[in-house]
Amino acid sequence: MLFSESVVDDMAALGRWKCTWRNCGAVLGNLRQMESEGQVLLFSTILLQIHRTACRSSPGGPTNKQTPVSDSRSFVLNACFQLACYAFKCFQKPKLKQMNINADYSQRVVINHNELPWIASPEPGVERRMLERQGDEVAKATSIVRYQPGSKFQMHTHDLGEEIFVLDGVFSDETGDYSAGSYMMNPPGFSHAPFSEPGCTLFVKLRHLGPGQVEREVIDTKSATWYQGMVPGLNVMPLMQQGSGSTLVKWAPKTYFNPHRHHGGEEIFVVDGVFEDEHGRYPAGSWIRSPHMSMHKPFSKEGCTIFVKTGHLLS
Ligand SMILES: [Fe+2]
Ligand SMILES: [Fe+2]
Repeated sequence: MLFSESVVDDMAALGRWKCTWRNCGAVLGNLRQMESEGQVLLFSTILLQIHRTACRSSPGGPTNKQTPVSDSRSFVLNACFQLACYAFKCFQKPKLKQMNINADYSQRVVINHNELPWIASPEPGVERRMLERQGDEVAKATSIVRYQPGSKFQMHTHDLGEEIFVLDGVFSDETGDYSAGSYMMNPPGFSHAPFSEPGCTLFVKLRHLGPGQVEREVIDTKSATWYQGMVPGLNVMPLMQQGSGSTLVKWAPKTYFNPHRHHGGEEIFVVDGVFEDEHGRYPAGSWIRSPHMSMHKPFSKEGCTIFVKTGHLLS
């Protein structure tokens, strides 16, 4: 919280003072162009000070909406009120400091997201569980993201792309509505303002793509084709086909794979069923990240579907 308590008290007092939006258009227009919190804070603080000075010289103070003031003073008072509210709203939004979660790719990580807390995002009704993260609000990250019914996210651009797999509900943006089982790769430079009418839960990877991904890829995995895998009982569905790629893999019950080594590492999210190897048992919701040159001999006694990426963990 960057405001002192006295300033917050001032804003609470201002909140009781009725005013119109009309006079403040020009000032707010300037404010919206400010990109940093520091600029907003400085501008707001200056105007709050003007407001205090104006109040001291105005009979009745700011809480008296009948206070007779000149047009110019009325403009300043209105501007102060709107700016204070705007800045207060800005600083009330949850903000993340630089954080590193499971950021060392040389380490093996096993997490079931159902055991993690939901962390608020800057948008009301949108929360995430952080599997790995390097950065602040703009981060290279892998997360489970939950949209409450009717929630939305402001327009944003993915400078380094994103991958989304819809786990449940319906995810929407300007390009369409995507139900459970939908996969999207939005390449670097893609912009959208996502929302969800009924709510949804997503597996999301952010800021991990580059010039190798150019064309947007969208696949409905409920209807796309499965191909025979390398052993009986294994079926594969290519997802992202540009760069190191992503694949959905379906294991029939009692399927056993060959021992293998992961050049560039391997990342698995268990969509349903139970995936296993000699290191452990991973029920639905598990995320397993294995480092460069790691080895295992995977199998599934009960059957499962997993989202897999390989070869992307060298840096
Ligand atoms: Fe996005
Ligand atoms: Fe593997």
